[in-house]
Formats: sequence, C-alpha cells, structure tokens
Amino acid sequence: MNRLLFGDNLKWLRDRNIFPDASVDLVYLDPPFNSNANYNVLFKEASGEASQAQFHAFTDTWEWTADVDATYAEFVDNCPNAGVVELIGALKKFLKTSPMMAYLAMMAPRLVELHRILKPTGSLYLHCDPTASHYLRLVLDSVFGVKNFRNEIIWKRTSAHSDPKRWGRVHDVLLLYATAEPYWNPVYQAYDEQYIQDKYRHTDSRGTYRLDNLTAAGTTAGDSCKPEGDGRRTHHVGIAHQTDGQGIGGSRSLQDEALSEGIPEDSNPHH
Ligand SMILES: C[S@@+](CC[C@H](N)C(=O)[O-])C[C@H]1O[C@@H](n2cnc3c(N)ncnc32)[C@H](O)[C@@H]1O
Repeated sequence: MNRLLFGDNLKWLRDRNIFPDASVDLVYLDPPFNSNANYNVLFKEASGEASQAQFHAFTDTWEWTADVDATYAEFVDNCPNAGVVELIGALKKFLKTSPMMAYLAMMAPRLVELHRILKPTGSLYLHCDPTASHYLRLVLDSVFGVKNFRNEIIWKRTSAHSDPKRWGRVHDVLLLYATAEPYWNPVYQAYDEQYIQDKYRHTDSRGTYRLDNLTAAGTTAGDSCKPEGDGRRTHHVGIAHQTDGQGIGGSRSLQDEALSEGIPEDSNPHH
C-alpha cells in the first residue's frame, strides 16, 4: 500500500493507530543534515533553461528556542528508554544549547519512534553526512543498542575535488541499524558486459580492474594498502570495490569472504 502522510512526521509516528509497535519492515530516512543551509526548489523553463522561479523547500539551520527547550524537556521526561535519556543528557552537557544540540533534540524523539515501529526483522537506514553522523551514531547506539549497529556505508557523491582550505567533501554517510534478527535479502547482480568492457580495461593476475582517482598521499599498514603507484579498483561482480592505491584501501579478504559466502560462480565471470 502506498500512502503519503503529510506534515510533521513526529505527529504521525506517535499515532499508534497508524504505526502500531513492530509494524514496519524497513525505514529509510533522509532527514535534514544540520547543513546550516536553506534549500530552495528550482524550476526549469520549458526550454530546459534554469528559471528564476523557485520556492523555499526547507530550512536546515537549527537554533535552541523556547519551543525546542520544551520539546526536549518533554522528551527527556517521557522517553521510555533510560539509555537514550542518559545519552541525550550527556550530549546536552557537552553541546549545551548549540545548533547541533537543537538538531539532535529534533532527531532523537523521531528515532525512538522509528525503533518502536520496526519489526524484529526490520532495518533502519539513516542517511546523513559527516556534519552530524558521529552524534547520530551515538544516539542510534542508545536507541537500538550498540550491538545492533550493522554498517556505516560511505556514499561517494562526487569525484575528488578541492574545497578551499580543507579536504574535498565528497561523501555522505548511511548508518544501518537493525532490531533483533534483520531480514537480509542478498542482492547480487552481474554487471552489464558492455560496462565491464568499457570501464574495466586492465587485467593482471588478480583479475580485471579499472583505474580510479580514489588516491591520497600516505599509506597504511596491511597488504591491501601497499602503494602500487596507481589508483585501481578491482572488479568483483556486484560485491565490493577495492582501491589498492595510495592511502585508501579496501580489504581483499572482504571479497574473499563474500565469495566464500555463496556468490554464484557464474555471476563472477572474471574468476
Ligand atoms: C534532506 S531533505 C530530503 C529530501 C528528499 N529525500 C529528497 O531527496 O528530495 C529533508 C526533508 O525532510 C523534510 N522535513 C524536515 N523536518 C520534517 C518533519 N519534522 N517532518 C517531516 N518532514 C520533515 C524537509 O522538508 C525535507 O524535504
């Protein structure tokens, strides 16, 4: 059933008629990131040209107002999870009434409700970026339990580029948490042959690979990160990408592990 619920999501999430306990299989949330920016929707002219017409979509700047203070107090008084209350109180001691704390005070009650409505087989993906991912991970640890953290997925959004006075900001973060026994649906799909031919144009004794620009100065310990003088991404069908370049490296054993866990032989034509 497709259903659109319009308005503040906390109001809906707290409605137990709409969202009973343990009623949802999968949550993916792409909330504000605390990016300290306002977002507008831009329209295009019929010609495809950018138009002057636009409207304000949402604000991603946070402030500790009287409203936030009241909502925070209400949450701390009524939250059934003592660990969450302790964690959020500790964060408040450190962050005080900063914009980051105002942001987390908005997120925490929603994450508690999302945990409530997830089935024991359910999973939750929280899409954020490095601005607040470290705090959100703490909050999620307190909501789901430390042992229910599953993955931190790094989404490389753009190629390497230079931002003034800092390293390029090129990635978002997706945090995966599960409840008791998450259902895991393996998704393996062979690359299109043409794509492999076009992109993975190099071969050595370890298989087919492509050159990439995920390189940085310096090395780390371990075989997978030994500098080889080029940035390379190993082709393993639909399992993992490995960069064996200078600095950023994936683990080859990850791929070996994935292979030993039943990747069909025929989905991996380069082995
Ligand atoms: C990072 S954007 C994600 C937008 C969407 N995923 C997309 O790709 O177009 C965050 C969205 O959360 C919405 N939002 C912020 N606070 C909300 C709330 N309390 N209840 C429901 N939606 C909210 C904003 O309006 C905004 O559209």
